[in-house]
Amino acid sequence: MSEYSNETIKLLNERASLRAFSDRKISDEVMDEILGAATHSASGGNLQPFSIIKITDKEIMEKIVSFGNQSFIKTAPVNLLFCIDFYRIKRMTQIEKAPFTAQKAFPHFWIAFQDTMIAAQTACIAADSLGLGSVYIGTIFTIPESLEGSVEVLELPEGVLPVVLVSMGYPKIQPRVAKKYGISTLVHENKYRKPSDEEMKKAVEEKYLSRILKVKGDDTRIEKIRSVCEKVENKEFADEVVNQIEETGVISTFQYRFGLHYSADFMPSMNETFVEMIKRRGFEIFENPDFLK
Ligand SMILES: Cc1cc2nc3c(=O)[nH]c(=O)nc-3n(C[C@H](O)[C@H](O)[C@H](O)COP(=O)(O)O)c2cc1C
Repeated sequence: MSEYSNETIKLLNERASLRAFSDRKISDEVMDEILGAATHSASGGNLQPFSIIKITDKEIMEKIVSFGNQSFIKTAPVNLLFCIDFYRIKRMTQIEKAPFTAQKAFPHFWIAFQDTMIAAQTACIAADSLGLGSVYIGTIFTIPESLEGSVEVLELPEGVLPVVLVSMGYPKIQPRVAKKYGISTLVHENKYRKPSDEEMKKAVEEKYLSRILKVKGDDTRIEKIRSVCEKVENKEFADEVVNQIEETGVISTFQYRFGLHYSADFMPSMNETFVEMIKRRGFEIFENPDFLK
């Protein structure tokens, strides 16, 4: 007997990102079931300020990869680009003759971002339930060349901002289910409960133990971590970090995450670029509009 009380709960607990797609085509009926579910998602004020670009053309997929995205994207039979879309709402307000400042309002942007991700996740769950799999590609938005390139190739009008791409298809190989922090780490009842250091260490160990990074002989990663730490903290902190790595022979989970992978000096350096990218798509959400000045 399954440990789950129904198939939906089982599906949600056993889902995993799929990056190896078989050649099997997705029928129009199946695709429409997935897209139908996504478009039926909850939406703030039921405005549905998003669009989904269904990419089936391999040449377009090639181009999207060439903008710096991962190459497995083009092996998927379909890629769904989930975008915030105020172009459509603006057009509708023009037709009806209604006031429109949603593109100038951070609250609308915030809700639209949530709506867009909820629609994307609904599509992913629907796909899983039909025997397909999927993976989110966040880089579509985080690499400026990828955002600009996608806008051009997909002919996205002003007011349409790509948020996330979902590569989707039938599995070639069933993906491994990832370890997660569980209820005891992520859920708080009524009030936020600050865990002890021991609890935190245990949670991290349980999630990442099998992926400990042992230091190799002449490990250039240590110098990289040192330079990141020195830049964002100071020399004393950098020495402490390096001493710890040398003593334990291990680069810890978060020394890897924020010292190497999402390096703590690089990530904030993108702030202004992001603001510019969002502005260039026609969102004036970082300052007051003229009528308020
Ligand atoms: C917003 C978001 C962006 C992501 N971007 C990428 C990506 O660019 N490339 C990729 O291979 N996986 C991407 N992923 C998938 C994560 O790596 C994956 O969800 C995570 O490793 C946990 O594995 P699981 O989905 O199998 O549980 C993304 C996931 C999310 C939610």
